[in-house]
Amino acid sequence: MMNPSLDLSTKAELPVNAPIREDLEALALSYRNICVVGLGYVGLPTALLFALHDFTVQGVDVSERVLSNIQADRIGSVYPELADWWQEVQSEGHFKASSKPEPADVFLITVPTPVHHADKTCDLSMVRAATESILPVLRPGNLVILESTVPPGTTRNVLKPLIEEKTGLRVGQDIYLCFSPERVLPGNTTYELIHNHRVIGGTTPEAALIGRTLLGQVMQGELFVTTDVTAEFCKLAENTYRDVNIALANELSILADEYGVDMTEARQLINMHPRVNLLKPGIGVGGHCIAVDPWFFVEASPINTRLIATSRLVNDRMPDYTVQKILQAVADIERPRVLLVGLSYKPDVADTRESPAMRVVELLQAQAHVDVVTYDPLLEEYAGLTLHSVAQDADYMAVLVGHTAVLEALELHGEQIRHAMRTPRIQVF
Ligand SMILES: NC(=O)c1ccc[n+]([C@@H]2O[C@H](COP(=O)([O-])OP(=O)(O)OC[C@H]3O[C@@H](n4cnc5c(N)ncnc54)[C@H](O)[C@@H]3O)[C@@H](O)[C@H]2O)c1
Repeated sequence: MMNPSLDLSTKAELPVNAPIREDLEALALSYRNICVVGLGYVGLPTALLFALHDFTVQGVDVSERVLSNIQADRIGSVYPELADWWQEVQSEGHFKASSKPEPADVFLITVPTPVHHADKTCDLSMVRAATESILPVLRPGNLVILESTVPPGTTRNVLKPLIEEKTGLRVGQDIYLCFSPERVLPGNTTYELIHNHRVIGGTTPEAALIGRTLLGQVMQGELFVTTDVTAEFCKLAENTYRDVNIALANELSILADEYGVDMTEARQLINMHPRVNLLKPGIGVGGHCIAVDPWFFVEASPINTRLIATSRLVNDRMPDYTVQKILQAVADIERPRVLLVGLSYKPDVADTRESPAMRVVELLQAQAHVDVVTYDPLLEEYAGLTLHSVAQDADYMAVLVGHTAVLEALELHGEQIRHAMRTPRIQVF
């Protein structure tokens, strides 16, 4: 059961494409100063996008590492996909970064919302801290947009009271407050940030319309207005949809193994059905979105989220299952040397947060009789190594995450790589 004290009324007060009143449009178009709080995978490209459109942008982050990467001009190497935007913004001079918010017209909050590992509840401490950090500089007429993924009800039940109690400003009259979730795919961020369709939920209809006008100046996807709770719900539902479908693919792949069926072949045949689109099974689900966000639904309503909770458990079990398969494949070798390739949470990104591949490494390293070697060409710590060099004397190579560079190396130099191995066994998961 949902907490009955939460305000969750989601009756849409506006059609999703409602027109804006002239006075609200004028206000939204007068905004020129943007403050983005949290300069990570979402916040930094968002800040740069506004700067590219001649807004004056202040980026705020509490991390020394993030600020020093910006000050030392290292963004192009830390986030290669942002290199062009960064270079352009540097030459225009519309962006600066610091550790404390300064007065602005608009505040975008893009800080992490992880789960507490022990009880799988949402950790809102960074959202609270980020909101508190803007309160001393908040002024009447400001727009605040939360973009961090949160349990439905957070914008109006957590942010609104924080703002009202500590500043005396009233949300809906003095301050416009929205929730607008990000849908970017890391690896394709710059394109998707501009072109994806997007939902903007307002704590009031006016806030949603003002938010839409602001975002519409830098984004080209369609922008749909709704309530804050509906927008929060949609974001969780989108990631839950992915998680549940991946869990089905993973469970079917385990069954396929039991039947001795080749899942790759079976999946091709299954997807010939005109109304079936079975996703690709893998070693689990990682990252800070799909592996995390479904828990926020489970936290809110444990009894009514059995499918969602089970899907999370199915996906979380996949690293153990992967290790069992690896151990079976080297069961005939007394002290096998196993090379694990690809450590990030998905192909072609260098992000290892919540990565199932890292869990595979951990579980395999706990097997005393196995020598484990790891390699990921996208991670700095492996700079200078090649797939060929790390494959030396290995008995088994498990490609846990199929980075393009790894698959290309296998295709182009597969023979030499096999030759370098002590026992040439390679499995691409
Ligand atoms: N990365 C994605 O693809 C993606 C997509 C959609 C939604 N989201 C959601 O967006 C939010 C941000 O995700 P992210 O991937 O950008 O996170 P991130 O970890 O890459 O970046 C967040 C940044 O916020 C900073 N930060 C933390 N507390 C702060 C505070 N009080 N003040 C200022 N800065 C602070 C951190 O130092 C960090 O640099 C999360 O809720 C995430 O679920 C992410």
